[in-house]
Amino acid sequence: MILIDGKKTAADIRDEIRREVEVLTENGQRAPHLTAILVGEDPASWAYVKNKERQSKKVGFTSSLIHLSDHISEAELLNIIDSLNKDKSVDGYIVQLPLPSHIDDQKIIMAINPDKDVDGFHPLNLGKMIAGLPTFLPATPYGIIELILRYDIETTGKNVLIIGRSLIVGRPLSILMSQKRPAGNATVTLAHSKTKNLKNLSLKADIIITALGQPLFLKADMVKEGVVVIDAGINSIDDTSKRGYRLVGDADFDAISKKAKAITPVPGGVGPMTIAMLLKNTLKAYKKNLS
Ligand code: GUN
Repeated sequence: MILIDGKKTAADIRDEIRREVEVLTENGQRAPHLTAILVGEDPASWAYVKNKERQSKKVGFTSSLIHLSDHISEAELLNIIDSLNKDKSVDGYIVQLPLPSHIDDQKIIMAINPDKDVDGFHPLNLGKMIAGLPTFLPATPYGIIELILRYDIETTGKNVLIIGRSLIVGRPLSILMSQKRPAGNATVTLAHSKTKNLKNLSLKADIIITALGQPLFLKADMVKEGVVVIDAGINSIDDTSKRGYRLVGDADFDAISKKAKAITPVPGGVGPMTIAMLLKNTLKAYKKNLS
């Protein structure tokens, strides 16, 4: 069984980025700058954004955080986005989701300058992705593609089952893996909460990607011998440890790893890849901004 080590792969990618940034700054260029907007106090979002700041600094980027009260109006948030769009010193930025319910996520995403949309969520960038044109790929699907490539997992002609149709993971990944491209050429099934007879589908799948946010949803009796499982879920469940909880994926790692050809752990699988790919997108935005 091959353990697909996202922690190590993400560290390799950060090293590659750091080396590139070193050359640029040694040649007198300024460092790339990534900004994050966080609205409210959601602990998971805080942890995520803080991690982004830490990893940005590790690769030699400058980074900033705009932390706003969850009482901010949609109009005020749109004003801040407008100023980031105009600020030449900001190469890329992300608006951490989810936003409070009085703010329309889609309206905010539409206001982001597509050239600074390092999350790849703007419809223009999603459209480019569907057309197979160069763009910013959403970071989690991009990270999954990178793991598949770096671990030489064959996807051509394979049955791929993606469970979960979110805009952030499942939907874009289903498009990428069905395209004629590296880590593509697969026959993709996109399953979701209304899918019937999921077990029939999962037993036929050569590669299963879970991205639904339900702890230990995929069980060993739902997969065939030799399956590849990539788990994009990260869920906290109560346990008897000192801190009172542990992180688990959407797949039952312990049981499935006895049947699988390759599998990602949680934590340490897809999670670390997301930020690494966000940094890669930011480097791309920076180069475009300077040119
Ligand atoms: N919330 C959970 N994942 C993400 C992400 O990749 N980007 C943003 N902006 N928000 C998120």
